[in-house]
Amino acid sequence: MLTEQFPIPWPLVELLRSAQRVAVLTGAGVSAESGVPTFREAQTGLWSNYRPEELATPQAFLHNPRLVWEWYAWRRNLVLKAEPNPAHLALVELEQRFPHFTLITQNVDNLHQRAGSGKRFPVIELHGNILRTKCFEENREIASWQETGETPPRCPHCGGMLRPDVVWFNEPLPEQALQAAWEAAQNCQVFLSIGTSGIVQPAASLPYRALDAGAAVVEINPDETPLTRSATFVLSGPAGQALPALLSALTP
Ligand code: OAD
Repeated sequence: MLTEQFPIPWPLVELLRSAQRVAVLTGAGVSAESGVPTFREAQTGLWSNYRPEELATPQAFLHNPRLVWEWYAWRRNLVLKAEPNPAHLALVELEQRFPHFTLITQNVDNLHQRAGSGKRFPVIELHGNILRTKCFEENREIASWQETGETPPRCPHCGGMLRPDVVWFNEPLPEQALQAAWEAAQNCQVFLSIGTSGIVQPAASLPYRALDAGAAVVEINPDETPLTRSATFVLSGPAGQALPALLSALTP
């Protein structure tokens, strides 16, 4: 079947029309059309000399906490200025369509939630959320603190340094979120992998778990990834076009 904007294979439409359990994994590509740079894109301006992999580690934070805090403050500002795009909005609609729907995201930018996802089924945040802050020492979420001019600010309970509530390289993923993501991949009939390079584990294994369990896997990405060869369907293009086209193809 061809929609006007984007070709959607008819067997995929039929499969989704009868699907009861759908799981979706999103990555930075879903937010690209909102103007949030993908993780591996060149850093700009002030930050062009740093690689994200060198800033997003507990070691980097301990070595230079101010630098890491300020990088995240810059990124937080970027995401607060960004708006959800048609891909986020289509996923909100898709959540309403299936008896079971799980949205798993590697994105920390909160754009799925701002678009309206998570009303029927909670969004699973595998890598945390940049809008939340936690204590580096105690690992508990901190909603407010006193600004004393110190960077990073201090935990009001223990005086430890505050940090963004995101998962850094060399850190484990939140256990409950990971467990829920595994279960969704294991139990779904259709698994969509959208805007992710599929190279960061353990998220990158989720589509293979779904494939092994007999689900169809749909990849949406303008570029090839390690998953492309194994995917059941590949919608090669930007998520902001492919997802609205998929949604309208599902509407009788
Ligand atoms: P990447 O930056 O690795 O990959 C982004 C993917 O999005 C690439 O495959 C692009 O081809 C694709 N892409 C770009 N524009 C797109 C568009 N308009 N529509 C669809 N796809 C598009 O981001 P992730 O795979 O999300 O982890 O990276 C995974 C994790 O690696 C991140 O969550 C982060 C990073 O390290 C942590 O912070 C722990």
